[in-house]
Amino acid sequence: MKETLTDIRTRRSCRKYRPEQITEEELSTVLEAATWTPTGRGMQSPQLVVVQDAATLKQLSVLNGSFMGWGPDKDPMYGAPTAVLVFTDTTIPTGRDDSALMMGTLMLAAHSTGLGSCWINRGKEMFDTAEGRELMQKWGVADKYEGLAICILGYPAEGGILAPKPRREDYIIRA
Ligand SMILES: Cc1cc2nc3c(=O)[nH]c(=O)nc-3n(C[C@H](O)[C@H](O)[C@H](O)COP(=O)(O)O)c2cc1C
Repeated sequence: MKETLTDIRTRRSCRKYRPEQITEEELSTVLEAATWTPTGRGMQSPQLVVVQDAATLKQLSVLNGSFMGWGPDKDPMYGAPTAVLVFTDTTIPTGRDDSALMMGTLMLAAHSTGLGSCWINRGKEMFDTAEGRELMQKWGVADKYEGLAICILGYPAEGGILAPKPRREDYIIRA
């Protein structure tokens, strides 16, 4: 249990990655851990899609950056070689909660496996577009899903991880 607490405290977002791909074993470890995420009524509602090919990663990066007004030269996915896309089941009342919690599991499991990770937002915007919907169809993601976020994965490069901010002193009210 101590290890779990240490992992929770020491996980940080990584925003610079080495170019080499993570191993299949590391990827499966992280993905398998994610399937143990608690979900509302145990419905296991999220859908995950793993992307590792350079052309699709670039397409996702450009699409994601477009919602911040970025051009194709700026990479909101920080050159990470693996992206785990998390989709939300819109027919399940807890769908968004389930998917957000799964993002948390993915990031913690990545850290515990020695990988860097980061939550990349704007998944809903990305997959509400015709381009995004086309990708979902190609991957076989059912229509009832919408995008939530992307968990990028890779080996951290130097300078990719910043020191954490101190924790808010008024985070907790003991009533
Ligand atoms: C809902 C959510 C959205 C986030 N979106 C982004 C994002 O789009 N790009 C990014 O670089 N980091 C994103 N992050 C990462 C946060 O910026 C990061 O978790 C926060 O600054 C704390 O740093 P730490 O993860 O290193 O502890 C997001 C995190 C969350 C939980």
